[in-house]
Amino acid sequence: MATYLITGANRGIGYEYCRQLQARGETVIAVCRTASEELKQLGIQIEEGIDITSDASVAGLQKRLGDTAINVLINNAGILKRVTLENLDFDSIREQFEVNALGALRVTHALLPNLKPGSKLVLMTSRMGSIGDNTSGSSYGYRMSKVALSMAGKSLAHDLQPRGIAVAILHPGLVQTRMTNFTTGGITPEASVKGLLARIDELSLENTGTFWHANGEVLPW
Ligand SMILES: NC(=O)c1ccc[n+]([C@@H]2O[C@H](COP(=O)([O-])OP(=O)(O)OC[C@H]3O[C@@H](n4cnc5c(N)ncnc54)[C@H](OP(=O)(O)O)[C@@H]3O)[C@@H](O)[C@H]2O)c1
Repeated sequence: MATYLITGANRGIGYEYCRQLQARGETVIAVCRTASEELKQLGIQIEEGIDITSDASVAGLQKRLGDTAINVLINNAGILKRVTLENLDFDSIREQFEVNALGALRVTHALLPNLKPGSKLVLMTSRMGSIGDNTSGSSYGYRMSKVALSMAGKSLAHDLQPRGIAVAILHPGLVQTRMTNFTTGGITPEASVKGLLARIDELSLENTGTFWHANGEVLPW
C-alpha cells in the first residue's frame, strides 16, 4: 500500500484517479480548491482550498502535510482555454502558463521534502503539447503551457534521478470530462485512468522522463 497525492481531485480525471486508487487499497490524499460531493463520498483525506497558482496556498499544503511521505505525486490540475490567432488573448495564455506549467512545478517543488528515494512524480501533460504531433495549430495558451510542462518534466527527470525519484510525463487520451465538454469522441475517465495507472506502475529510474500516452505509446516531443 502506497500514499498517492493528486491535485485537481474534485472532478474529471483527478477524481477518477482517487476512486480507482482507493478501490485498490492505496492511501489517497485528494487536493482541490473545493471538494465535490462525489469526492467527499469516497471517505479519503481531502486537502481543500488549495490553488496551485498561489505560493502561499501551496506552502500551506506542505505545512498541512508535514513530514507525510508521498510515494506518488500526481500533478493533474489543469485548464484549457480557447486561444486562436484571430483572438490572441495574452491574459488567457498567461493564465494557462500559471496553472498548467508553473502550478505543477510549484506543487512539485513545495512537496519535494515529502518525496523519498523510490517515490514517483507524475505530470499530466497533453498530446497538444507535443511539437512533433502538432498537425492542426491554434490553441496557443494550452499548447504552449503544456510543452513548457513537459520540458519541466524532462529536467525534473534528470535532476531527481540521483535522488531515486522517477518522473512520468503522461497524456490521458481524449477523455470525457468537463474540459472537453464530455466529448462523445473521447474515452471514459475510467478507461483513461486504468491506462495511466498502468504507466505509473511501470515507471522506474530506467524509463524516467518518458512522454507516454495512457495506452502505452511513447509520444514525440
Ligand atoms: N480531458 C482530456 O481529454 C485531457 C487531454 C489531455 C490532457 N488532459 C489533462 O488532464 C488533466 C485533468 O483534466 P480533466 O479532463 O480532468 O479536466 P477538468 O475536468 O476540467 O478538471 C480540471 C481540474 O483542475 C483543477 N484546477 C484548475 N485550475 C486550478 C487551480 N488554479 N488550482 C487548483 N486546481 C485547479 C480543477 O479544479 P476546479 O474544479 O476548482 O476548477 C479540476 O479539478 C489536466 O491537466 C488536463 O490538461 C486532459
